[in-house]
Amino acid sequence: KRTVKVALLGLGTVGSGVYKLVERQQNEMVNKVGADLRIEKILVHNIGKKRDGVDASLLTDRWEDIIDDKEVEIVIEVMGGIEPARTMILEALNSGKNVVTANKDLVAEYGKELLDAAENNGVDFLFEAAVAGGIPIIRPLKQCLASNELDEVIGIINGTTNYILTKMFEDGMDFEEALAKATELGYAEADPTADIEGLDAGRKVAIMASIAFHSRVVFSDVYTEGITGITARDIQYAQEFKSVIKLLGVAHNTEDGIEVGVYPMLLPKDHPLASVRDSFNAVFVHGDAVDDAMFYGRGAGEFPTASAVMGDVIDVARDIQYHCTGRISCTCYRTTPIKKFDD
Ligand code: NAP
Ligand code: HSE
Repeated sequence: KRTVKVALLGLGTVGSGVYKLVERQQNEMVNKVGADLRIEKILVHNIGKKRDGVDASLLTDRWEDIIDDKEVEIVIEVMGGIEPARTMILEALNSGKNVVTANKDLVAEYGKELLDAAENNGVDFLFEAAVAGGIPIIRPLKQCLASNELDEVIGIINGTTNYILTKMFEDGMDFEEALAKATELGYAEADPTADIEGLDAGRKVAIMASIAFHSRVVFSDVYTEGITGITARDIQYAQEFKSVIKLLGVAHNTEDGIEVGVYPMLLPKDHPLASVRDSFNAVFVHGDAVDDAMFYGRGAGEFPTASAVMGDVIDVARDIQYHCTGRISCTCYRTTPIKKFDD
């Protein structure tokens, strides 16, 4: 029986979830993939850190142990940040390894470069977990809705801020306490400024707009406004108007160009997005053929994110097993002009 060998870069919140899912699914892999799947090596920053339940012999802090290992066919990048992740992913793709990542910072900025490298090398570069955690949204935009002209993608796409706003509205929790809890639960980024200032949602909406509108929207094209300015008085006013405040990522494809932004919005309590609570996310899409479609689920956290990562890994492993590597790049078929938010 063939074994597809995998390397994991990072063993934090998401990496630990991936490790546990692979362990949990060990006996099922052959049914899902047609081959066994094994984690061969795990790259970490601090090799001396105590990691319960992890086979310590797999750990390394040397990238060479992975890039030079010809038997590793899939690299899963869940370290975060731009460097060294970008360089490592490029090296992996250029040496014929497939890559799966959850890194939206990287995809939002360097997605085209990485997709081109994958295409040039006939390997896969997949990133379902980079947007909306466990919710399948990249594949639906890229494949299932491919026959549509999509003109609108709107969503709650940051679990940390949705958790904070839910706690402020429902439990009267103050902002700092709710943020500390979201961090403890593994929802927040290493630097939570990216969450609370709308930057994380900005990266995700740039990725979705690129795919949905066949263009190349990068983070700097996105207007961003976070939730740090929301006060207890704002919450009280919203409640008086039978409304809630949600941080939305909004992308429109208009006749004048693509318009993309992230900002807090007052929504009446009976609006479909108003009932999206806690760390849940939801993405609403409109297309000329499908009409309205909505995707809902957990937008952050160990297992929901690992679920999306492993979906990609299993997909790639199947491609390897059945010799059908190499996908059509999902962005930049054509370029629709970007309309600045305040134009
Ligand atoms: P995390 O908990 O901070 O874990 C990061 C891991 O990467 C740690 O194991 C760390 O090693 C390792 N690492 C960091 N820099 C490294 C380096 N230079 N060399 C080797 N190892 C390095 O992060 P996370 O929350 O799992 O997030 C990982 C990625 O997934 C990020 O791109 C994030 O945006 C994305 N993501 C996260 C979520 C979520 O809910 N958390 C959801 C979707 C996407 P040590 O353990 O030794 O410190
Ligand atoms: N920090 C991110 C969030 C993780 O809270 O949504 C998921 O991308």
